[in-house]
Amino acid sequence: MYFKQFLHDEFGCSSYFIASRFSRDAAVIDPQWEVQPYLDLAAERGYTIRAVIDTHLHADHISGNRRLAAATGATLYLHEAAEVHFPFQPLRDGEVVRVGQIELHVVHTPGHRPEAISLLVVNPLRSPEPSMVLSGDTLFVGDVGRPDFGGPEGARQQYASIQRLLGLADWVEVFPAHFEGSCGKGMCGRPSSTIGFERRYNPILQLSREQFEQAASEPPARPLNMTAILAMNQGVADYRWVATTPLVEAVPEITVEAAPAWLQEHHPFILDVREPAEYRAGHLPGAVLLPQADLAVRLAEVPRERKVLVVCAAGARSRRAAGFLLGCGFPQVTSLAGGTNGWRAAGLPLATGTLAEG
Ligand SMILES: [Fe+2]
Repeated sequence: MYFKQFLHDEFGCSSYFIASRFSRDAAVIDPQWEVQPYLDLAAERGYTIRAVIDTHLHADHISGNRRLAAATGATLYLHEAAEVHFPFQPLRDGEVVRVGQIELHVVHTPGHRPEAISLLVVNPLRSPEPSMVLSGDTLFVGDVGRPDFGGPEGARQQYASIQRLLGLADWVEVFPAHFEGSCGKGMCGRPSSTIGFERRYNPILQLSREQFEQAASEPPARPLNMTAILAMNQGVADYRWVATTPLVEAVPEITVEAAPAWLQEHHPFILDVREPAEYRAGHLPGAVLLPQADLAVRLAEVPRERKVLVVCAAGARSRRAAGFLLGCGFPQVTSLAGGTNGWRAAGLPLATGTLAEG
């Protein structure tokens, strides 16, 4: 068999190319929007992409699944529970997708999303048992996928799905859909692991079911532009411009110490990109709430003719949101380094309540 993991640094995602060296058939799992690398690899090595599979509907990046299937004639697979407005081949638990002699066994692992699947990779020429699991956003290295996108039963289902994966043999290698990013809280950063190592040393897997559900009730912030990305991945709206908008890296920043005088001088539009609960607990006076998850769909609410100061909790979200705004052509965007936490620590005044929601 041929196996390649693609690491995508911008969103901390992994995608996979699996092929049979005998039949020359290939499958791509969780392809990114930019599909040329998969096409180039197939052409270079003489493989034909027959199957395109997304482990779930992604909330943090726009999938290339439909583009890659259209470019290759491959079958597009999703779990049957996927609610999308385009045709696909539905997968059920226990089903097998064949790539030449290689078998991809579908395990329905709901929790992160209702339609989430994991794929057990079996190469019968080597062994009747799986050697790898493509664990999607169910099991990460050192963490598990956030269950708050999975509906009211998300946390309970995620716990059960993970227990199912932990029933695999110790040697089974774990290849998740993320090594960093906003779909988990404490990923280790390594791109792969084994079931045995995770069972023993993944801190979330040491929790009782009650502790697990408690930890799940404090999810991280929703990803940048999630509303637009999910609508695009469901086929209900065309937000491909989000996928092609660069996140500008060179973002002007201002320190908390320098901010008060700068605010006095420039009177910027203060854009708070945190979640509503964070905003209510304390924000810069005059800041307007627009959570980063909604930024692309509410872009018209951000003025282009004024200076914009983007603020979050500690400065990471605001930096990326500012990079997106710069990529969209907003000319005067600055990020507050240190964020609202730094502002508070400096003893500067905060406002509370919901008055300034944008
Ligand atoms: Fe995800």
